[in-house]
Amino acid sequence: MPAFEGDPLLLNILTFLLLSVVIPFAGIMAAGGATALCCDLYGRRNGSEGHRRLADALMEHVAPGRFVWLLLPLGLALALLCQWLLYGLANLLSAFWIAAFALLLAGAGALRLCRKSLSRSFVQVSVLGASGIFFIAASLYLVLLSETLIQRPDQLALLPRLPGIIISWHGTWRFLSLAALSVAAAGALLRWGAPRWTGGDYGRMGGGILLGAGLVLLPVLILLELQRAAPFALSTLIFVLAAVAVVQAGAVFLLLATGNERKGAAFVLTILIFPVWILMGQIGREEAQAEAIVAGTAALVDFPVIGVPTIVAAPPAAPIVDGETVFNRHCIACHRFDSRLVGPPLNEVLPKYVGNREALIGFIRAPDRVNPDYPPMPPIVLREPEYEAVASWLLQRIEE
Ligand code: HEC
Repeated sequence: MPAFEGDPLLLNILTFLLLSVVIPFAGIMAAGGATALCCDLYGRRNGSEGHRRLADALMEHVAPGRFVWLLLPLGLALALLCQWLLYGLANLLSAFWIAAFALLLAGAGALRLCRKSLSRSFVQVSVLGASGIFFIAASLYLVLLSETLIQRPDQLALLPRLPGIIISWHGTWRFLSLAALSVAAAGALLRWGAPRWTGGDYGRMGGGILLGAGLVLLPVLILLELQRAAPFALSTLIFVLAAVAVVQAGAVFLLLATGNERKGAAFVLTILIFPVWILMGQIGREEAQAEAIVAGTAALVDFPVIGVPTIVAAPPAAPIVDGETVFNRHCIACHRFDSRLVGPPLNEVLPKYVGNREALIGFIRAPDRVNPDYPPMPPIVLREPEYEAVASWLLQRIEE
């Protein structure tokens, strides 16, 4: 699957718009659903009709209706399709994306059923509700893990052999940021809506606590996610956006402190943090992909890609004598045949070694500086038969 040939800006804007709708909806659905379940449980425990009514009303507002249930996963699928076109990822990532789509569909469906059965037994409600929340959260986690993996083109290349590499701290912190933001938004919704839904004073304080806690955690989590991002995926713009998100969170606090929160201003302001935070991820992806494709060598030299192949490949007991296996284990993190990754496209650099296998082996064993456009290649430590196998395989492939 070749990368998209047309104007990527349009696809980027479309991805951003789709994610800016899908992610807040899904996040609030999960966080609001969890809040409603807790409220329902509290109401049942304490025989408080008010809390049960409130739980019903909240669920009514956050759980998907007939159309949202289908539109939301569809929106996600479109956003992922855009990314697929943008980055041309023909590997395992697509499978993770299909899983994310299926999980969102299942989660939204379960919450929808839960909403319709709130008056039923608690077991029924909590099983449906909890599985819906879990599926939605899992879907968002997968989406964010894959987003952060796209910011590491070197590790992305390893994914087909090491599916576990999808799990990263960067993605995990980003997921937790989203969770905090969603909890804050659900709290703001509760605080704003509760008095109007039930006519009583239930939920205002609970909503305020959720809003405050989510907003206090958010800057910390954003800091942690930035700290875990690949250095070359960061740019001034991302830091500016992070600062904007923090200022927005501060503004909500100010609104609460001054008691000036008519017309759901706190809710709207909280919702507006989502697109800023989503843009951070989007710019990180673009930044990293540009670095991997265009020059950007200075950044890549700092980048600890060199550690990756060795961490990945614990030396097997016996030498590998299949050249392709050696290549996949030791070279693929940096090399493709027809495109630039960390190293040059092999189709361009190999021809000069045709008929001179020893020179190629010599280079792999102790690389010279060749092209100032690239960072230096680290020496690749292999066993003797492995050097021979990979060099023979490469030269044979290039001659075909
Ligand atoms: C950590 C990243 C990395 C790994 C792993 C890596 N290379 Fe490279 N490779 C590079 C870079 C960067 C260059 C460009 C170096 C230069 O031009 O100075 C390069 C250059 C080359 C060249 C071109 C040499 C020339 O004369 O222009 C060949 C051939 C090559 N690598 C083969 C391999 C093989 C075979 C392996 C696996 C056994 C491998 N590389 C593993 C990064 C890597």
